[in-house]
Amino acid sequence: MAAYLVTGGCGFIGSHLVDALRADGHSVRILDDLSTGKRENVPAVDDIVIGDVADAAIVKQAMVGMDGCFHLAAIASVQRSNEEWALTHRVNLTGAVNVFDAARTAKDDAAVPVVYASSAAVYGDNPAVPLGEDAEKRPLTAYGADKLGCEQHARVAGNVYGVPTTGFRFFNIYGPRQDPGSPYSGVISIFADRLASGQTATLHGDGGQRRDFVYVGDCVRLVMAGMEKASTAAEVFNVCTGTPSSLLDLIATLADTGGKDLSVEHGPARIGDIRDSFGDAAKTTAAFGMTAQTSLRDGLASTLRSLAG
Ligand code: NAD
Ligand code: UD1
Repeated sequence: MAAYLVTGGCGFIGSHLVDALRADGHSVRILDDLSTGKRENVPAVDDIVIGDVADAAIVKQAMVGMDGCFHLAAIASVQRSNEEWALTHRVNLTGAVNVFDAARTAKDDAAVPVVYASSAAVYGDNPAVPLGEDAEKRPLTAYGADKLGCEQHARVAGNVYGVPTTGFRFFNIYGPRQDPGSPYSGVISIFADRLASGQTATLHGDGGQRRDFVYVGDCVRLVMAGMEKASTAAEVFNVCTGTPSSLLDLIATLADTGGKDLSVEHGPARIGDIRDSFGDAAKTTAAFGMTAQTSLRDGLASTLRSLAG
């Protein structure tokens, strides 16, 4: 059993990871500034450092004695990254460098492994779907550029400092606890919330745009497996199903699973909205013997159940 630091452990994905690590008998310390995460997402955890991952001293102190770190803390809103460029850069890239740096000497003055969240946003508007890890990276946003930066600094961590890492490019993750509270929340969190509360959802564009929706439980299983695979080669893997769903598919499946139709109004397509984003799961499947496999139907059913209380 190991002791892990989970940055962003009070957030959507982080809190599911914390649950799974604890269920496996590991001990967990969380570093989170509670900016979008919630204390009540992890009621059973008492070792929580409330602090900013962009503060190198706090990260260093939180990492002392840990056997490894799962780094998920970030400003996950793409829109905010464009509106507050320098601030999100500080959190999303400097934060990651702080984590890699602290990992150099975390335990008995030796390096410990780091598993970190990158994003499909590194591919930007690359139309070469399904996107394999070697596809050209052309991020369109500050968020995507910083996630690509994390991957580059993970290589530095391995090459220069001997810190083993694994990076994961998450596609569109969804599931219980995802906050539907902002217009930039994930589409499934918003649509599921509207269905449950009988409100109208807005469909931007014609609904033919396709995404690779990944259930959070599948994401967590891969992230956990990433700790064993961490190496100074700084490998990066897609977290995807490889199966695209259009938004019209999503709306139909939601109605089927929820037993009622989602009321939808049509809005203009979002500026810069990517038409097709889905991954190639081959590298991940070869390395881990699994990929994200929960069907959209099953994942939506579990998401809707959580909203029903
Ligand atoms: P989230 O907002 O629920 O979680 C982020 C967590 O980080 C929150 O608990 C927040 O309070 C914390 N945090 C933010 N700024 C911080 C700071 N300066 N210092 C310390 N803690 C801070 O979002 P999520 O969807 O759970 O995202 C988790 C990770 O996965 C992020 O790195 C995100 O970029 C990445 N990711 C998510 C998706 C997705 O579809 N949800 C897709 C690609 C990548
Ligand atoms: C998502 C991630 C982003 C990541 C990108 C990589 C979220 C919130 N964003 O962006 O971090 O960089 O994948 O592939 O998880 N839509 C509606 N109505 C709504 C909300 C959204 O029609 O109320 C549409 C959007 O226009 C878009 C699709 O749903 O076409 C998906 O949107 P969203 O869930 O915001 O995610 P991405 O833009 O794919």
